[in-house]
Amino acid sequence: MTQTVLRGRVLTFHAEPNDGQDNNAYSYIEDGAVLIRDGLIQKTGSFCDVAAMAPDAPVIDHRPHLLMAGFIDTHLHFPQVQVIASWGSQLLDWLNTYTFPEETRFADADHSAIMAEKFFDQLIAHGTTTAVAFCSVHKASVSAFFQEATKRKLRMLGGKVMMDRNAPAGLLDTPQTGYDDSKELIATWHGTGRSSYVITPRFAITSTPEQMEMAQALVQEHSDCHVQTHLSENRDEIAYTLELYPQARDYLDVYQSYGLLGPKTLLGHSIHLESREVDALVETGAHPVFCPTSNLFLGSGLFDNAGLRGRGITNGIATDVGAGTSYSMLQTLNEGYKVLQMQRQSLHPLQAFHWATRGNACVLGMEDRIGTLDPGTEADIVVLNARSTEAMALRMDRASTLSEELFVLQMMGDDRAIEEVYVNGTASKTAPATRARKVR
Ligand code: GUN
Ligand code: ZN
Repeated sequence: MTQTVLRGRVLTFHAEPNDGQDNNAYSYIEDGAVLIRDGLIQKTGSFCDVAAMAPDAPVIDHRPHLLMAGFIDTHLHFPQVQVIASWGSQLLDWLNTYTFPEETRFADADHSAIMAEKFFDQLIAHGTTTAVAFCSVHKASVSAFFQEATKRKLRMLGGKVMMDRNAPAGLLDTPQTGYDDSKELIATWHGTGRSSYVITPRFAITSTPEQMEMAQALVQEHSDCHVQTHLSENRDEIAYTLELYPQARDYLDVYQSYGLLGPKTLLGHSIHLESREVDALVETGAHPVFCPTSNLFLGSGLFDNAGLRGRGITNGIATDVGAGTSYSMLQTLNEGYKVLQMQRQSLHPLQAFHWATRGNACVLGMEDRIGTLDPGTEADIVVLNARSTEAMALRMDRASTLSEELFVLQMMGDDRAIEEVYVNGTASKTAPATRARKVR
């Protein structure tokens, strides 16, 4: 048995805060601690109480920093590590010009393995301990993704994109190979260690109706797998989708008519929705995923968080690297705040930090395992420093409440604010790598 006590200021959420005054939604302990035993959280409470439970356990003192659950990123693309920050176009051009050519490189197992290492270095450096990733069409990319995640004991979700048209030859599967490869990857990885397989038809434009039928078969045969795709990100994308599926009532109807919608379905972007589509989200329990840095970068549009929430829909929030411009969930909350400001919608910092942790865990149906510091859950923990830059420290000199501190982290924080990251109970943040050296 291995035991460790982490000491610091402790914040964990029990529910989504209704507003900044909702003190029942969270626990905040000034001199707090978390007892970790064999990768699981054994107790969270005052340092006195926790230390008394395990008097012989080593204590790692993170005071004055803030301990909370590791961040969860509910939508990003593993093969876009070297696509992030590609200039000048909106969605369909950006995919054809930059993204698809880059993804062809992941046919190569060695390239995939090197990139997987870099990808998880970035996630951990930015405080993200669970992510839901699109891999490339190639099995090799998925194997590399899960092999590296398993090596690091990370709870990760991902899947091979199914795509059989409207992309370069090196990126196309067929309805049959897309099905067979997904099936084989599910058998190998789903439920292995902390890995979960996600059935991943990329989006309607790159899948024929025959492939959608195969995705439907996979969902029926593996109802315990999540499903992920993209929905209504960009006006040209929507128009082209409706040309390709002329019988569909709207974009979401493409996925709905193939039985792809349910509480385990994640729909990246979901910006330009018709009222019937919103009704269908309510009926099926599928989750829109807000990707603010990406939506601003590609000029896609403004996500209507309040409108969807008002209908009882639970939205995720995510980076969408590489259309997203940062791996940081702090920066994602920063840009999310601004997207909502543009629509006179509000995002209190307590709600923001709930969203990036327990909120996204609820979207995944995994709040019993990740997203909080509750006893019995997995010890994925981030240590945050709101004085990590001179500019932040100056602002913090005038801050007196937890909410102010969280807002400084949200608006000004990035990987420099991540002091340490515990994955499955083990300190996992590596020293910054040499940046100048070219990898591939
Ligand atoms: N729609 C289909 N594929 C993609 C992708 O890789 N990124 C984004 N932002 N949207 C997509
Ligand atoms: Zn995406």
